[in-house]
Amino acid sequence: MALLEVLHYPDPRLRRRAKPVAAVDATVRRLIDDMFETMYAAPGVGLAAVQVGVDRRVVVVDVSEDKSAPLALVNPEILEREGEEEMQEGCLSVPGVYEPVRRAERIRYRALDRDGAPIEGAAEGLLAVCIQHECDHLEGRLFVDYLSELKRQRIRKRLEKQRRLGTEAPRPGRREGTLI
Ligand code: NI
Repeated sequence: MALLEVLHYPDPRLRRRAKPVAAVDATVRRLIDDMFETMYAAPGVGLAAVQVGVDRRVVVVDVSEDKSAPLALVNPEILEREGEEEMQEGCLSVPGVYEPVRRAERIRYRALDRDGAPIEGAAEGLLAVCIQHECDHLEGRLFVDYLSELKRQRIRKRLEKQRRLGTEAPRPGRREGTLI
């Protein structure tokens, strides 16, 4: 397995719409395994392939505290959305930024799993938020798109400056939000 480089906003590759996976083969499984390793190392609870520069519809998620609930979703689709809730979100591609985002509280989804078998499931709370956030990544959408234009510009300038200076965003000392 290998750690993959996570692209940071405003990298234009994060804006590509990911292409469907035609067959869940060894290459896709390897990608999934590397994405899990990268996500756990960050640490984060979700990662989409576009974030590591691969424009394929693959996401990995694990909202457990102890890496006990890995969920790989290939070609995921959200079938139903219900209710509404606001959660503080962060993103591995937007380091150091945490903002509240309003999303559906409960969802039903379907996808292919790591073996290429069709799965269907229901999710609520953090898992529902996480799957919605990852599916957004596959459409080239980032959580900062839900913020005001002014806020987004401020975040963009800050991250561009950090990149120019070669400085990393300060690591949060405490869990300020969920890194998805
Ligand atoms: Ni994200």
